[in-house]
Amino acid sequence: MTEPIDGFTHRFEPATVPGLPTLLLLHGTGGDENDLISLGQSLLPGAALLAPRGQVLERGMPRYFRRLAEGVFDMEDLALRTAQLAGFVDSAAKKYQFDPERVIAVGFSNGANIAASVLLTFPKVLAGAVLYRAMVPFEPGDPVVLPGTPIWLGVGSFDPIIPVANAERLAALLRGAGAQVTVDWRDAGHNLTGDEVVAAAEWLRGVASSQ
Ligand code: MLT
Repeated sequence: MTEPIDGFTHRFEPATVPGLPTLLLLHGTGGDENDLISLGQSLLPGAALLAPRGQVLERGMPRYFRRLAEGVFDMEDLALRTAQLAGFVDSAAKKYQFDPERVIAVGFSNGANIAASVLLTFPKVLAGAVLYRAMVPFEPGDPVVLPGTPIWLGVGSFDPIIPVANAERLAALLRGAGAQVTVDWRDAGHNLTGDEVVAAAEWLRGVASSQ
């Protein structure tokens, strides 16, 4: 088994195509480091994949940070875990020898929320992000600068967990910070649809070739 890095059990799949960014794969509640590997392979074939498992357990289900109720986050824990994840990316880049300046997060639900938290807290850690079913992790007190950072948001207009207004607020927050935000709306709930994989893959190809 791969040794944990900074406490994170994880999976790393080396690149098979040179010159692509590394994808940081962040699962939803109850997932693990294996969950998004095939999604990552579909999104950017040949890219290196780094997939940490969330270290918080909620009734046995791994997550990246604690919550008090659905959509109500433990802010102190979120801040702590956000810093740990940012540190993990840096340590993993040293161990696996990938470029820390070319890491793109791909997150679903809880994984998308911690990725949004990393973007708003440590703007230099991620060179971009695909966020499926993300919400505003916290309202930043200080101005955030994400100059031109490409971010793709996959929103389900019937998502029972994330109100449309919350997804719109996240898009506005990221745009306000200077990010290049693409919002992909689908007539969908919280679950990911195949069309969104195709759409994000096309977007990601464009981002990878321009970075
Ligand atoms: C969260 O806790 O991050 C959100 O409620 C999404 C979820 O994981 O269900």
